[in-house]
Parts: sequence; C-alpha cells; structure tokens
Amino acid sequence: MTESAFHAGDIDTSVPHPARMYDWFLGGKDNYPADWAAAEEVVRLMPGARETAWANREFMHRAVRFVAGQGVRQFLDVGTGIPTEPNLHQIAQDVAPDARVVYTDNDPIVLRHAEALLRGRPEGRTAYVQADLRDPESIIEYARAHLDFTRPIALSLIALLHYVTDEQDPQGIVDTLLEPLAPGSHLLLSHVTHEFAPGIWERIDEIYRSGGTPVRARSHAEVRAFFAGLEVCDPGVVVGPKWRPDAAMRIGDEGKSVYVGVGRKV
Ligand SMILES: C[S@@+](CC[C@H](N)C(=O)[O-])C[C@H]1O[C@@H](n2cnc3c(N)ncnc32)[C@H](O)[C@@H]1O
Repeated sequence: MTESAFHAGDIDTSVPHPARMYDWFLGGKDNYPADWAAAEEVVRLMPGARETAWANREFMHRAVRFVAGQGVRQFLDVGTGIPTEPNLHQIAQDVAPDARVVYTDNDPIVLRHAEALLRGRPEGRTAYVQADLRDPESIIEYARAHLDFTRPIALSLIALLHYVTDEQDPQGIVDTLLEPLAPGSHLLLSHVTHEFAPGIWERIDEIYRSGGTPVRARSHAEVRAFFAGLEVCDPGVVVGPKWRPDAAMRIGDEGKSVYVGVGRKV
C-alpha cells in the first residue's frame, strides 16, 4: 500500500537547499545552479564533503540492514532526502519484504519525488508525509496511522539533527520522537562534526544559512548525548566508515566528518 499526503508548496530554486546540495554531493540530478555553487564552495572548504555524504549514505544502508536483521519490521525515517537508490525501504524490504516504512521530509522537492519512495514490495507498505522535524508530535500522529506502536520501530534521524540549532532543542525533539516507541525500538542517527576540519564550519554554516537553514556541527560528546537512555549497539558512536564496515562500502577515512550510531530502547 502507498500513500502520500499534503501538497507541494513553491520550490525556490534561487537559493541553495540542504536536500538538493546533498543530492549534488551524492552525484544526483535534482539540483540547481544555486545548489551547485553552494555545494562547490563547501567542497572547496572541505575537500572530503562528497565522501562524507557518501559515508553517511552508506551508514544508512548498513544500519537499516542491521536493525532489519535484528527483527525490526517498521521504520520511521525523518529527513528522507531526495530519493537515491537504494532507498531505505528497498534495503529494509530486501531483508524483510513485509517491512513498513514511513518517510517524512519538510522540503517540497522531496515530496515531488516521493513517488519513487512509494514503490515498494507488495507485502510491505510505504507512506510519505511532508512534515517538519521541529513539530515531532505531528510526525508521531501521522506515523500512528501506518505503524503499529506496540511493536518495535526504527527511528532514523540520518544527517538531520545538524539542521537543528541548540535553541530549537534537538534533544527535546529526539526524546519526543522516542518516547512513544516500544521497547526493542532503535534510533539510527548520524550527524556532521567539526572535529576533523576545525575552522571552516562557521563559513559552512553561513553558506547553508544563505538558503535559510543553519548548520550546527557537533562534537562526539554532543552526538553521543542524543543516545542518552538507550543501549548503544557496538561499536558505539564512531565516524561513519568505522561503523560495522562491510565489503559493499566504497568510502573509507576520507568520509569521516560524520558521527554515526545505533541505539536500542530497552
Ligand atoms: C542531508 S539530507 C539527508 C537525507 C537522508 N536522511 C540521508 O541521510 O541520506 C537532509 C534532509 O533533511 C531534510 N530536513 C532538513 N531540516 C528538516 C526539518 N526541520 N524537518 C524535516 N526535514 C528536514 C532536508 O530537506 C534533507 O532532505
């Protein structure tokens, strides 16, 4: 079964946007000159930016396979991004064809491409809603219509929380999203860090702010803190390429400016 909700608003291609810049980093085609210019400037400042984007995406692949392998059959993915194959539901449904996935993003351009996120296995179920992470209650309300909250759910906040400033209370948002989830649920989280390329993040923040979205890179301790109250799965919170590496990975140490981890609710 598939469903999408809400209508696309106006898409302003004259300013850079995180979803389209990320699509550019990954080599996608759904981006515009303002996105290329901003993304190229980020690469000039941080030559490993594209590799970091790929290290992040490859973490998503491995983490979804890992939790599906643990028996989790339901996924709530916030900040989905423009579809890039394989998408989360394809990975989950390769392991478990009946996996259910609820996708959400606040960018109208992602909604425009949501159809690709809704083509899953007939045994499974995918849904898409345009929603903002900073309104976590509405995300939970929508997810309740599609997922069984008495059973474990994997909540993925992948490359997302760095768009939330301290004033917007990222920890409170994570807690609100985790609170209604059943024991055995997991948090899949990744987050950019300034620790390996200090001195450039103020400028990177300015570039993203020019499109209306600030970026707040965080330290290992700050990213680890998002897992408070959860059992952190091995190998803990580490740089992307070091998390349960496998033979399919293309990116090594050059993509290390992202901390990643998986936590389990007990
Ligand atoms: C860097 S992309 C990550 C995509 C995907 N999660 C991945 O890791 O491959 C970040 C996504 O988060 C979305 N995003 C940023 N701020 C958001 C917010 N406040 N609410 C919902 N989505 C948001 C952007 O539109 C973008 O699609």
